[in-house]
Amino acid sequence: AIKGFVFDLDGVITDSAEYHYIAWKNLAAGLGIELDRAFNEQLKGISRMDSLNRILAYGNQSDMYDAAQKEALAQKKNDEYVKLIQQVTPADILPGISELFADLKAAGIRIALASASKNGPFILERLGLMAQVDTIVDPAELANGKPDPEIFLKAAEQLNLAPAECVGVEDAEAGIEAINRAGMFSVGVGTKEAMKDADYYVTSTQELKLSEILRRAS
Ligand code: G6P
Ligand code: MG
Repeated sequence: AIKGFVFDLDGVITDSAEYHYIAWKNLAAGLGIELDRAFNEQLKGISRMDSLNRILAYGNQSDMYDAAQKEALAQKKNDEYVKLIQQVTPADILPGISELFADLKAAGIRIALASASKNGPFILERLGLMAQVDTIVDPAELANGKPDPEIFLKAAEQLNLAPAECVGVEDAEAGIEAINRAGMFSVGVGTKEAMKDADYYVTSTQELKLSEILRRAS
């Protein structure tokens, strides 16, 4: 039986994926690299430095910066991102998520957060959801980012559950792969193309219904 739900944050619980995109797009533009939404799909779920490395490779600039310069670029992106998320309020919880959380609570199913973002706890606080989440995986403690299953395995461990007792919810291609490799039932939010490897997918969060997910996961 399913006893835990492991949620990604950006693009699942709130639309902060859009703020990551804006901040990366602006940073890249300053380097003469133009990002579009198709390329951005590859950045979702990916850590800050890995994202920068992918952008530099995309712009054929991988060899142009040393480690210290890359740290400064990543910091610059984060400074803009942190500014953007100051405005986040509970009104920014994506449609259907509050209902889903309430249904999970009522069903006695525990909730974990598995976000690669070091800004995750701040956003959860701003959304007023901190008390509803049972455990948060600290991305700073991970050896490998998504699509490695480590963050989802860690979430199951922190919930004291087996991966097979958990459902993972993601909007990133790398995230769906991580959930699948962890041995959890994967639920995707996004386009059919981006979510092609998900066990079940919906196009928007308001379609996430606990009864339907449990029916499909069992
Ligand atoms: C999540 C987002 C990514 C972001 C990463 C790191 O996985 O989907 O877009 O790059 O977190 O976020 P951070 O806030 O630590 O830079
Ligand atoms: Mg995401």
